[in-house]
Amino acid sequence: MKFFVDTADLEEIRDLAEAGALDGVTTNPTLVYKAGSGDFFETIREICEIVPGPVSAETTALDFETMLAEGRKVAKIADNIAVKVPTTVDGLKCCRALRSEGTMVNVTLCFSAAQALLAAKAGASFVSPFIGRHDDIAQDGMQLIADIRQIFDNYDDLTTEILVASVRDPVHVVDAARIGADVCTVPPGVLRKLFKHPLTDRGIESFLADWEKTGLKIL
Ligand code: E4P
Repeated sequence: MKFFVDTADLEEIRDLAEAGALDGVTTNPTLVYKAGSGDFFETIREICEIVPGPVSAETTALDFETMLAEGRKVAKIADNIAVKVPTTVDGLKCCRALRSEGTMVNVTLCFSAAQALLAAKAGASFVSPFIGRHDDIAQDGMQLIADIRQIFDNYDDLTTEILVASVRDPVHVVDAARIGADVCTVPPGVLRKLFKHPLTDRGIESFLADWEKTGLKIL
């Protein structure tokens, strides 16, 4: 399973990329707002330079013509852009058009298996089911991932990657991998938690205490 980071924060992206933890990046208008970026295009261009994998940047128009114009403009930023469009009729029209031009497309705001199937039939590179927002309303977000995995596995011609989005904690990440999701996009805070284990911390502590007693040095 590939790891994308779900943020537009350049510092976080740089740091996590250096740890080799990133296969791509996802952003959305809220994340761009939270990162407090001055220039949207410049921020996305910098992210594309830091991470060679797919970088999702979202369109904001709702009608096909304007969405397509936005998508084409965003796609010009770099070769590794994946244009994000919503799961709507116009969004999927736009997905088809952009895919025919060779642009990667991430169909976002997917909340049902039926929507995921439509996104795949429109040729989406990625479909993003939002699991945390399902959990927020007492529905089982991870079951949606399992359902989509089962459906896509039934048909060889459905090659769209399942990108698990709206991830809230490390258990989501492990469960997504267990189901066989292709990608999980993880907020930086959750990604950092994946590195942690109390036994790792305790092990480091006891090794260092014993090393100190030897009086030896490596450098
Ligand atoms: C990523 O592509 C999605 O936009 C993001 O994961 C949504 O997460 P949220 O539900 O925490 O806002």
